[in-house]
Amino acid sequence: MKRIRHNLSVFICMVCLLGSLLPGQAFGVDPGQISRTAEATCAFRTIGATDPDPKTRNPDYLARHFLNPEWEGRFPGLGMDYAAAKIAMDQMKSGAFYYVNARTLHMDALLAEALQEGCRQVVILGAGFDSRAYRFHDSYPQARFFEVDLPATSMDKQARVEKLLGRRPDWVHFVPIDFNTQSLADVLAAATFLTDQKTFYVWEGVTYYISQEGVDNTLRFIAEHSAPGSGVVFDYLHADVALGLDYSAYGARRVTSYVAFQGEPYVFGIDPRHLETFVHLRGLEMLSDQSPEALTQHYLIRSDGTVSGKICGFLNIVHAQVPVHSKRRRLIQKAKSQMKMFRVARASDIETHRIDVPHDVQDFLTAYSRLLVSSDFKALEDYFSPDYLSSGIYNRQQVMGFIRRAYQKRPIQYHQIILTRFDRQGNRARVDGYVQRKGYRTPLMVSHMAQKSDGRWCWYRYDPER
Ligand SMILES: C[S@@+](CC[C@H](N)C(=O)[O-])C[C@H]1O[C@@H](n2cnc3c(N)ncnc32)[C@H](O)[C@@H]1O
Repeated sequence: MKRIRHNLSVFICMVCLLGSLLPGQAFGVDPGQISRTAEATCAFRTIGATDPDPKTRNPDYLARHFLNPEWEGRFPGLGMDYAAAKIAMDQMKSGAFYYVNARTLHMDALLAEALQEGCRQVVILGAGFDSRAYRFHDSYPQARFFEVDLPATSMDKQARVEKLLGRRPDWVHFVPIDFNTQSLADVLAAATFLTDQKTFYVWEGVTYYISQEGVDNTLRFIAEHSAPGSGVVFDYLHADVALGLDYSAYGARRVTSYVAFQGEPYVFGIDPRHLETFVHLRGLEMLSDQSPEALTQHYLIRSDGTVSGKICGFLNIVHAQVPVHSKRRRLIQKAKSQMKMFRVARASDIETHRIDVPHDVQDFLTAYSRLLVSSDFKALEDYFSPDYLSSGIYNRQQVMGFIRRAYQKRPIQYHQIILTRFDRQGNRARVDGYVQRKGYRTPLMVSHMAQKSDGRWCWYRYDPER
């Protein structure tokens, strides 16, 4: 057990360290690959379902059947010993585990409400290893489920379902799609989806991985091709994190780096202050927007009144519904007039947050990025202070080996460091900022620079706690 926990801490350290050095590919799950983040959320639900407290327990009792066996050794106690697994989850200091538990409870409650009110079609968008189609079937046998996902993950899910049930269930339709390039209208029409039936859409843990166009097209499809009264629940990333502007929310640095390291970086976010206008503009009526604080109050308070754990602070969950046609037009018109009152931040605006740094610092940053792009790892070593790369567990050589292997897997195409903070004290400087990659941003995980005796700068200290 001790060894597994040690391995987990090492893994977290390495993810954080490599987070500052991520390969910079175009965003999205690699073609043909099963979504790594879908596997991770399935593992979180498997652990959450063993919570001894029924008040905070994750209701996904089937998650363990969808778990990739590869994950079983990764988290101590996974699916068996909640106390051990919880220690590991808390050590991650990301809040993602608690967020996923609150999210399952919230989305399950909304789905149950819709089914009770007579909804007969459920579309699970970006389904991953979602088990709702199988958990809700006994209580709502008339409901038809559509599980929509990228082809490789969808295929793998079908195999896991067949293994669990011994057959392919006739109430579930598996629908492959790429939200960034394909229309939901086309793929659902081919799967006998009925546009005149009340439908409930679950879009869990997906919007932040796809382009704004992909999000817009999906929400507009829901508004225009579903019966009035149909509902949708989806979660969204706060725009400040997507734009690399502010990573101070709990877990933001770690989770942003983790998902990018898995090849599924965050690319899209919404400013919570403008959420209602955002939803109205896409033709939907807002019902609720749950902040991390509200989710904690509703779903993470244990039977003894204490909070089960700290939730990540940069994701909200929206519930919206399809209004009647005339109301939809009014909502869109009102939202358009409100649009004039604020300007939607786009990544290109955020260049203005860049601070000017001395020439020698800029030269250092530029040369460092160039070496990453050209994979010159030998020369790159010189850009770190001796203590920077030694975590106490691995030596410098081993760490450079990790970096080299990560880059070999996904060669880097674009890397630019934008500093938003540079506080110099003597020959050291505290820095902050983000890394611009091809199509997305990740936090600068390195917090300090030092000037060497020859006048050149180097990364000086990695601070995992910030
Ligand atoms: C974090 S997982 C969430 C999975 C599941 N909804 C859950 O909560 O466990 C993200 C899901 O989005 C899917 N996804 C990512 N990009 C997509 C795209 N461009 N088109 C369709 N699905 C996508 C992935 O395949 C994956 O299943």
